[in-house]
Amino acid sequence: MAATAKKKAKNSSFGQTVIDGKNVTKIFGETVTALEGADFNIRAGEFISLVGPSGCGKSTLLRLVAGLIEKTSGDLTVNNEVVTKPRTDIGMMFQKAVLLDWRTAIENVLLPSEIQHRITQDDKNKAMASLDLVGLKGFEFHFPKQLSGGMQQRVALARLIQTGANIMLMDEPFGALDEFTRERLNIELERIVGELKATTLFVTHNIQEAIFLADRVLVMTPRPGRIAKIIDVEFDRPRDISIQTSRDFNIIVEEVRDTLGGH
Ligand SMILES: Nc1ncnc2c1ncn2[C@@H]1O[C@H](COP(=O)(O)OP(=O)(O)O)[C@@H](O)[C@H]1O
Ligand SMILES: [Mg+2]
Repeated sequence: MAATAKKKAKNSSFGQTVIDGKNVTKIFGETVTALEGADFNIRAGEFISLVGPSGCGKSTLLRLVAGLIEKTSGDLTVNNEVVTKPRTDIGMMFQKAVLLDWRTAIENVLLPSEIQHRITQDDKNKAMASLDLVGLKGFEFHFPKQLSGGMQQRVALARLIQTGANIMLMDEPFGALDEFTRERLNIELERIVGELKATTLFVTHNIQEAIFLADRVLVMTPRPGRIAKIIDVEFDRPRDISIQTSRDFNIIVEEVRDTLGGH
């Protein structure tokens, strides 16, 4: 297949700013500056990839946005509200699926609903639809140990979708998967976030993955993490995996590499 890498028009319109960080600093204890003066903003429906070396503060930034930890200084708002605690409109996903072994796929997906209220038929229908969306039709009643690592991450994604959160924070969700599985999930995630129109902040240290998925890539410096550069990625969606071999794509790969290497 020809590697078409059409670029969409500049200034393509996303919605209002959803996540807004200004001069955000996080110091652990007295001495460990994990994040220093980070400025970042994410608009509704936008997909942002966050890349940077190990220990540069990517997870810290995500946890601050999620309201799991408190910033040391700076301003941080989500939907124009100062972040003070975890929010119900934010869902998270991690490198490990963290599924309950004794529950089937659908029972795991239903967990967020179950914590809130008694499960209804509507919840069950929604869970079936979420599992279908992530490509697990026919595996609803399998237990985690009967599923591959990639399939377990799909269950975790379905569980995230089930929460109805329209802000997704994903911390290296495919980091433990083999290359082939990672690529399949990249293709699926690109389709799924397009359908859900979710606002997504995605952490990875895989440069190809970061660019393939993102509208903008935020490149961080080593600790203390700062935002070194924000790079626009303007390929049309839905995207075909073959864009990765295109010249335009590889120019961006080089730009990210140079930015990472220069720090
Ligand atoms: N709870 C904590 N207490 C002390 N130091 C921490 C804590 N969490 C993270 N750090 C430190 O902050 C830095 C950034 O960590 P992290 O955000 O996890 O980096 P990344 O996700 O980019 O690998 C690291 O030096 C790490 O050791
Ligand atoms: Mg991390």
